[in-house]
Amino acid sequence: MEISANTQAVAYLISAILFILALKGLTHPASARRGNYLGIAGMAIAIIATLLGSEVQSYGFIIAGVAAGAVIGTVLASRVQMTAMPQLVAALHSFVGMAAVLVAIGTYLNHDAAGTLNPVMMGELSVGIIIGAITFSGSVVAFAKLQGLVSGAPVKFKGQHMLNAAMAVATVLLGIHFGMTESMASLVLMTLIAFVLGFTLIIPIGGADMPVIISMLNSYSGWAAAATGFTLGNLLLIIVGALVGFSGAILSFIMCRAMNRSIINVVFGGFGSESGGEVSAAGEAAQKGVKSASVDDAIYWMEDANKVIIVPGYGMAVAQAQHALKEMMELLEKRDVSVKFAIHPVAGRMPGHMNVLLAEADIPYDHVVEMDVINSEFPTADVTLVVGANDVVNPAAKSDSSSPIYGMPILEAAKSRQIYFLKRSMNPGYSGVDNLLFYQDNTSLIFGDAKDTIEGMVTALKGGGH
Ligand code: TAP
Repeated sequence: MEISANTQAVAYLISAILFILALKGLTHPASARRGNYLGIAGMAIAIIATLLGSEVQSYGFIIAGVAAGAVIGTVLASRVQMTAMPQLVAALHSFVGMAAVLVAIGTYLNHDAAGTLNPVMMGELSVGIIIGAITFSGSVVAFAKLQGLVSGAPVKFKGQHMLNAAMAVATVLLGIHFGMTESMASLVLMTLIAFVLGFTLIIPIGGADMPVIISMLNSYSGWAAAATGFTLGNLLLIIVGALVGFSGAILSFIMCRAMNRSIINVVFGGFGSESGGEVSAAGEAAQKGVKSASVDDAIYWMEDANKVIIVPGYGMAVAQAQHALKEMMELLEKRDVSVKFAIHPVAGRMPGHMNVLLAEADIPYDHVVEMDVINSEFPTADVTLVVGANDVVNPAAKSDSSSPIYGMPILEAAKSRQIYFLKRSMNPGYSGVDNLLFYQDNTSLIFGDAKDTIEGMVTALKGGGH
C-alpha cells in the first residue's frame, strides 16, 4: 500500500499537532503521562506515514534497522537507573547528531550522482553536517563524563577559546567553499573539524554544569534534525527539529536561571571543579559544632508538629526513599501534621528529577511545592527534614561570595525551627562545598541511608520501636 503526497502531508500535520500537545502535557506532572501518550501517537503516525510514502523503494534495510534499534532501545531504557538518565539522553543525542551527518553526506552523494545539486541544498547539507557533527562528539564527551568513563573535571588549556573560534570559522568557510565548488576535500575537512569542535567545546565544562550542556546539546540535535528535514524536503522533520531546538534552548535558560548562572558562564566555565572539595573558611571554623541525632529525636519533634517540610534531594533518589516517605507522610497526616515537599529546580541530577520520583510514589501533587512558593513557609515549619539534599539548602549560596554556588537561589530551610539532615557521612554535595547549615544551632544530622532512616521513622510512628 502506498499513500499519496497529500495524505502524507495531512498525516504529518496531525503528528505535528500531537507533538505540540505532547509538549504542553509535559509541562505539568498531572498531565505528563497524557503528554507522553500523545507524543507516542504522533510518532507512530509519522513513522507509518513515512514508511507508506512513495520515496520508500524497499523495506529490507528499514526493517533490519528498526528491529536492531528497537531491541537496543528497549534493553537500554528498561535497564537504565533513574539517576543515570542524563547520560542515556546524552547517548541518544549523539545518535541524532550522527544521523544528521550521515543523511547529509548520503544525500550529497546521491544527488551528486544524479546531477541535481544546487547551492541552497549544499548550504542545508553543510549546516546539517556541522551541527550534527558537533552534537555527536559533544554528546559522546558528555556521556563519557557523566558515566564516569573519563574524569568529570573541566579540561582547560591556554588559547582554548581562540582555537574553538578558529575552528568554528573554518567550518563555515569550508561549508561555503563546498557549496560553491562541490569539493569533496572541503566536505571531509569540514566534517572532521566539526567533530573536533564538538569535543573541544565540551571538555572544559565541569560536572555540575553538565545537565545544562545536555539540554543545549538537545537543542543542537533539534537544529540538526531540522537541517536534515530541509535536506530531505521533509516538513515534519523541520517542525519537530524546531520544537526540540527551541524547547532545549528554553530549558537550558531556565536551568541557568535556577542556578543564577549566565549561559555564557556555563559554556565557557568550569563550575564544580576549581573550588570543588575545598571546605570554605567559615565552614571549617564551625566544623566541630556539628550535632548528630537519632530517629527518636526527630520523631519527638515531628509527631507533635503542626507543619513538617521535607526537602528531597539527590540522596533520596540514590536511596529510593520516596515510597517510605509517602508512608511517613500518611502517618504524620493521621496525627494532623501538615506535610509538604519543597522542590528546588535543580535538586537531584536532572530537571524534574524529584517530581518524577515523588509522583512514582503517588504523593499528591498538591503536597509538592516549588521553591518560590514554599520559601515563605519555612519560618512557620516546626521541622524541616532534608532527605539526601545538600547544595539546594546551603546558605553559603547567599553569604559566601567565594563559594562556587554563590548566587544560586536556595530553599530557606535554615529558617525553620528544627532541621534534620538525613545523609550517610559528612561528605559534601555535588558542588563539593561544605554546607554551612550543618553548623546552625538548631540543625542535627541523622547519619545513615535515607531509606533505612525513613523506614525507622515509619516504624517509630507506628509505635513499634526500631
Ligand atoms: P547534592 O547537593 O548533590 O547532595 C546530595 C546529598 O545526598 C549528599 O549530601 C549525600 O551525602 C546524600 N546522599 C547520597 N546518597 C545517599 C543515601 N543513600 N542516603 C542518604 N543520603 C544520601 O544534592 P541536591 O541538594 O539535590 O543538589 C543537587 C546538586 O546537583 C546541585 O549542586 C545542582 O546544581 C547539581 N546538579 C543538578 C542537576 C539537575 S538539573 N537537577 C544536574 C546535575 C547536577 P552522603 O554522601 O554523606 O550521604
